[in-house]
Amino acid sequence: MVEDGLGDLVAKGLGSGLLSFSTDLASAVAEVEAVLLCLPTPTAADGSTDLAVLEEVCVELGSLLETGTTVVVRSTVPVGTTRRLPEMMGRSDLPVVANPEFLREGTAVSDFLGPDRIVVGSDDRDAAAFVAGFYEALDVPKVVTDPSAAEMIKYASNAYLVTRLSFINSIAAVCEGLDADIDAVVEGLGLDHRIGSAYLRPGPGWGGSCFPKDTRSLVDSARRGGYEFRFLEAAITANEEQFDRVVAKVEATVEGGISGRCVAVWGLTFKAGTDDHRDSPAVAVIERMMVAGARVRAYDPTVASRSEALPEGLEICADPVEACRGADGLVILTEWPEFAEVDPGAVSAVLEVASVVDTRGVIDRKRWTSAGFGVESIGR
Ligand code: UGA
Repeated sequence: MVEDGLGDLVAKGLGSGLLSFSTDLASAVAEVEAVLLCLPTPTAADGSTDLAVLEEVCVELGSLLETGTTVVVRSTVPVGTTRRLPEMMGRSDLPVVANPEFLREGTAVSDFLGPDRIVVGSDDRDAAAFVAGFYEALDVPKVVTDPSAAEMIKYASNAYLVTRLSFINSIAAVCEGLDADIDAVVEGLGLDHRIGSAYLRPGPGWGGSCFPKDTRSLVDSARRGGYEFRFLEAAITANEEQFDRVVAKVEATVEGGISGRCVAVWGLTFKAGTDDHRDSPAVAVIERMMVAGARVRAYDPTVASRSEALPEGLEICADPVEACRGADGLVILTEWPEFAEVDPGAVSAVLEVASVVDTRGVIDRKRWTSAGFGVESIGR
């Protein structure tokens, strides 16, 4: 797993005896004051949130925990779930607390040690104070509230970030049509202190194991609560359209279209700095290109061979130039910095047509254009 600083931290914890691992729940929770639940909450087939794992663990905990043990939900769970925990555990003597995490994959350690805020929600004030105390060493705002508000803060944060991303990708599309430069637009927009510059980088669309799942879950919860969250649905639709727009750009660079042709892809993970390609925009684009009849050869620094999670027929190559051998065009879908270092001359020597669609803005446009490449990007 690629996670900056985690290996060292785990080794240090194990070495000092402060950290240990167990697959036996009973011994792991014996004599503890708190249990932190960091369990998967995937999307169910009907679009709702699948809480089966959480429910299963709660049933087990119900028969194991000593009176007064605090149960802390760190997973992203639909609003109202933490308050249902006593019922799931069959116990009313265990304080429950919602304490959502806001870590990003790849930078989880630094995000944990330097968060923007800590959110703690409980109907039990002592339990909330106890959990807020875990983070005493961190000099950051602590929002202490009720469990439902705490759960909602997590969904609202992710929903807000995806709407920003869909917004900036839409602005990029407008820029393309009107011949305006998205880089300058992002700079000018982000300097407004009311807006800020984070999460304004245009790209092939947003993805990962959290944003798509959490936005779908919020749309579903909103509907159950009697509200059609059309605004968020539009952000999801704009994202799907972004994948289509990338495919259309590749189609346009390959003379005669991509059906029956070979496309080289750089990047499979949902962003750089991780080896995770679950719900990756890169995979969404590749799937669409394959449906359109293209053969795809891909390179990603963290993916050495095709796993079941990747489309059947996708060829994985050992280096970026190899992926381009005999291909009719190249598309860059993840912002790995090493892509900027590749010599465009070496690429054009093996590509059939010197064209590249750089959806992440990683390569030096001038350098590649001087090497004879047609360079397409998002919003430029
Ligand atoms: C996201 C949130 O950022 C975390 O705060 C949250 O804790 C986590 O989900 C979660 O719910 O557990 P993560 O999934 O690691 O974290 O992904 P991000 O780094 O936020 O990136 C998500 C997607 O947005 C990626 O596809 C990335 O390439 C894209 N993105 C991000 C852009 O296209 N442009 C940007 O400017 C920023």
